[in-house]
Amino acid sequence: MSMRTLDDLDVKGRRVLVRADLNVPLDGEKITDDGRIQASVPTITALTGAGAKVVVCAHLGRPKGQVTAKYSLRPVARRLGELLGQDVAFASDVVGDSARGCVESLQDGQVVLLENLRFEPGEESKDDATRRAFAERLAGLAELYVGDGFGAVHRKHASVYDVPQLLPHAAGGLVVAEVEVLKRLTQEPERPYVVVLGGAKVSDKLGVIANLLTKVDRLLVGGGMAYTFLKAQGHEVGRSLLQEDQLDQVRGFLDEAAKRGVELVLPVDVLAAVTFAADAEHEVVDATAIPADREGLDIGPRTRELFASKLADARTVFWNGPMGVFEFDAFAGGTRAVAEALIAQTGSGGAFTVVGGGDSAAAVRRLGLPEDGFSHISTGGGASLEYLEGKTLPGLAALEA
Ligand code: 3PG
Ligand code: MG
Repeated sequence: MSMRTLDDLDVKGRRVLVRADLNVPLDGEKITDDGRIQASVPTITALTGAGAKVVVCAHLGRPKGQVTAKYSLRPVARRLGELLGQDVAFASDVVGDSARGCVESLQDGQVVLLENLRFEPGEESKDDATRRAFAERLAGLAELYVGDGFGAVHRKHASVYDVPQLLPHAAGGLVVAEVEVLKRLTQEPERPYVVVLGGAKVSDKLGVIANLLTKVDRLLVGGGMAYTFLKAQGHEVGRSLLQEDQLDQVRGFLDEAAKRGVELVLPVDVLAAVTFAADAEHEVVDATAIPADREGLDIGPRTRELFASKLADARTVFWNGPMGVFEFDAFAGGTRAVAEALIAQTGSGGAFTVVGGGDSAAAVRRLGLPEDGFSHISTGGGASLEYLEGKTLPGLAALEA
């Protein structure tokens, strides 16, 4: 199966609906990281350059079908206009009078951004008919569809899954680029293939861990989820994050890794803090001896070295999830160490290194690390993980059909 691309569409003078992922973090109306808007620019520019009338649609946050002022895309329209170097009209609704009016008045080469798709209950509805009815109204705004919202392709939503079934469609450049990277990670990756997983919850990553254990040479586990692994090995973790209900599952992973000869590498020391705070008093302790009244907030110095050594001969690396509470400077060292090990391995090591979206991409930027130090920084955390889990992603399936 393959996807049609922009080259396969004749867009001149036609209305093209682009599903983008413009889900950026906001502090009030201020965009704190515009990475996803930047990543959406090339496809939009290609379309305006080819004389299309471009109708961009996207979501922001999780307003759950309710019009919610703080989730308006208006600030995003402004920033998109700056990056495109041209005015971007903003429709104050998704498929209503404002949207239709804006689309009517578009000239060739002009752009409008519709209000947050998730203000409409039809967008995320689990009921096929409800979702389809909304998709028809959205599709009615345009003649062609371009799927470019990689970060949302794992969602079976109207704008992602249903609209491409209603209009001639193609994948945008961002989706094509992201899928190429994921293929390289899944189709005969160069070995050693090492995956680094972190983040708070092991329950978010069960599916991907199960699948990765059949693919990788090494799995390094840090971050909040590591404590459930340490506990599963029989160690006390004090007041660290722990998902008791996942212990059986995690024991299963430990057995499976041993059986398959996959090296599952856990922290050997942690920064144990008296409380969850930026200035919390803390000390380095062995991962097997976390005091009962303390919680681990980062991997320790010996673990940083251990993880770096496990990356030092890697030819392929995928990393998703911070190693500690990187938002607090005192607990950002582990995440920084892993990022730096990846950068070293990309440069002199010649490895193919991928940062898998979400918090890890934000961490790279927040820590001031060079984005071009990695082979690829994905715009989609959840989407990448579901792809690596081996799932069929609704948005990609619809584009392939
Ligand atoms: C993301 O932020 O991961 C994507 O934009 C998808 O958003 P969602 O997780 O709210 O569906
Ligand atoms: Mg997400």
